[in-house]
Amino acid sequence: MIDLAAVRAEAEIAARAAGDALMRLFNQPHMFNYKTSDRDFATEGDHAAEAVILKLLRALRPDFGVVSEESGADAAAAAAAYTWHIDPLDGTINYAAGLPLFATSIGLADAAGQPVVGVVYAPALGMLFSGAKGMGATLNGEPIRVSETETLDRALMVTGFSYDRHLLADNNLAAWNRLLMQTRDLRRYGTAALELALVAAGRFDGMWEKHIHSWDCMAGLLLIKEAGGRVSDYSGVESAALFSGSEIIATNGCVHEALRSALNV
Ligand code: IPD
Repeated sequence: MIDLAAVRAEAEIAARAAGDALMRLFNQPHMFNYKTSDRDFATEGDHAAEAVILKLLRALRPDFGVVSEESGADAAAAAAAYTWHIDPLDGTINYAAGLPLFATSIGLADAAGQPVVGVVYAPALGMLFSGAKGMGATLNGEPIRVSETETLDRALMVTGFSYDRHLLADNNLAAWNRLLMQTRDLRRYGTAALELALVAAGRFDGMWEKHIHSWDCMAGLLLIKEAGGRVSDYSGVESAALFSGSEIIATNGCVHEALRSALNV
């Protein structure tokens, strides 16, 4: 077993260093490296932050695998005892537009694919969320807990839409329309990692999304579990589909089943 407190501290250092790199480039004109469509791109910030994180974490933990948004999975990731799931810049569209809702997300999963460490850092907001399995979760060093909202009609929920929504029948629009009427209100921040961290900190009562990736959610899901919340796939189970980001329901626990029912009609 690894020293989770030490690894968590290392992930915090890497996230802060990435945040510094992102902030240095934030108020400058951005480069757009397009990937699958006009809405799916990386900026120089994504690449700079990724380089900083990988250099630090590979030096500190050479035996861990890496799955990172811009460079993909390394050779060690398939068989390593522990694998980092890294989004150097979650919320790239916001970052490119000069909006402060973006974050670096660094999660560590064990060989079973379960998260054991999670750090989400939103440098423009000055918010560093951090947690480790069995050790709780914090925001800027202070313990956090999920909200106590008990009913859907009083819940403030957040969600997102895949970059591939133009190709998907299951594109979240029907669920958005339904839940907009059934909840206190909905938000779409454009950064899944930060949205999940804000559920852990009790700001949002729940988050759902389909078709995202392990690097968007591994850290945030750990934070919610450690802050007393519940995470599952659409069938209610903590499955591989959940931790890979293909199906996420993440809440304070109280509203979990009500949200799950609303999503499964
Ligand atoms: C995106 C954000 C967004 C979500 C997208 C993700 P990126 O991540 O998390 O909220 O709806 O599906 O791809 O590309 O900005 O790192």
